[in-house]
Amino acid sequence: MAMKNIINHTIIFLSVYAVVASVHVTAELQRFNHFPTKADGSLDILVIGDWGRRGLYNQTHVAFQMGKVGEKIDADFIISTGDNFYEDGLADEEDSQFEESFTQVYTATSLQKQWYSVLGNHDYRGNVLAQLSPILSQKDSKWLCLRSFIVNSGIVEFFFIDTTPFQDHYFTEKKHDYDWSGVLPREEYLSNLLKEVDMALEESSATWKIVIGHHTIFSAGSHGNTQELIDQLLPILEAREVDLYINGHDHCLQHISSENSQLQFLTSGGGSKAWRGEINQWNPNEMKLYYDGQGFMTLRVTEDEIGVAFYDLFGEIIHTWSNSKHTHMDS
Ligand SMILES: *[C@@H]1O[C@H](CO)[C@@H](O)[C@H](O)[C@H]1NC(C)=O
Repeated sequence: MAMKNIINHTIIFLSVYAVVASVHVTAELQRFNHFPTKADGSLDILVIGDWGRRGLYNQTHVAFQMGKVGEKIDADFIISTGDNFYEDGLADEEDSQFEESFTQVYTATSLQKQWYSVLGNHDYRGNVLAQLSPILSQKDSKWLCLRSFIVNSGIVEFFFIDTTPFQDHYFTEKKHDYDWSGVLPREEYLSNLLKEVDMALEESSATWKIVIGHHTIFSAGSHGNTQELIDQLLPILEAREVDLYINGHDHCLQHISSENSQLQFLTSGGGSKAWRGEINQWNPNEMKLYYDGQGFMTLRVTEDEIGVAFYDLFGEIIHTWSNSKHTHMDS
């Protein structure tokens, strides 16, 4: 699919560089510009996670509603919070799952925009380098997956973080094999990543700062909180006044607010298999939404306002939240 937009050509070119750079654990965060094109300067984004199941488990139904909503809001781009291909990522660049779970599922015109994807733990169970390969962007130009990178939209900056290597138990469990190529030595990879993210957040002059990773920081779902991220990433996000942390991993739609900072925790992990029968036992003062079923999230950003909406499988809005920087400063 030929993209007219010069930005997309740049992205494909840069992603070639990213794969080359990813073999060095000290690689700097890749930066991309994706500026608003609407006359009012607003940005509309779809967010989906935990999806690639060859259309099964309601994946195609979610994709259909995403297409309709994407058209209504005139989506600028799409964010994937990871676990892109189940159960074990992609085997190689020729794996037909790429077409069967991505290209042939997200077919609506409104979804033929740039996708920005991170890796989830299931993606690490396959050939990680295959998902990062520019060959996939050649097969389907909307695809882009990198480990950690930044998308700058002027009013908002998005920081995508590779969260799988933070989880201790993936390095000890015997049940699954993980492809850690490019991640070892692990301590160096993690400390460099945290340093880079901290510096980039500090230097950011964007009004809104949004961090995206596959794993939860806080969640009432079956995976629950991720202690490693609470210990290592959360203090940075709080110190640098990040507005939103968006993740997948738990197969639900969820919004947890903090009582001690502006940071909101949003889970969009309802791209396919869901309905785990979770019972939400979170503090009701912080839990704004817990929905155990399939769906996705939209994000709207302007100079002074940020808003999210969660949609279910039927295209119904089940929760909204918004914040304004002016209200924030006046209060
Ligand atoms: C698909 O979605 C419907 C409506 O939410 C739900 O009743 C059904 O259980 C879902 N199917 C699967 C396999 O999750």
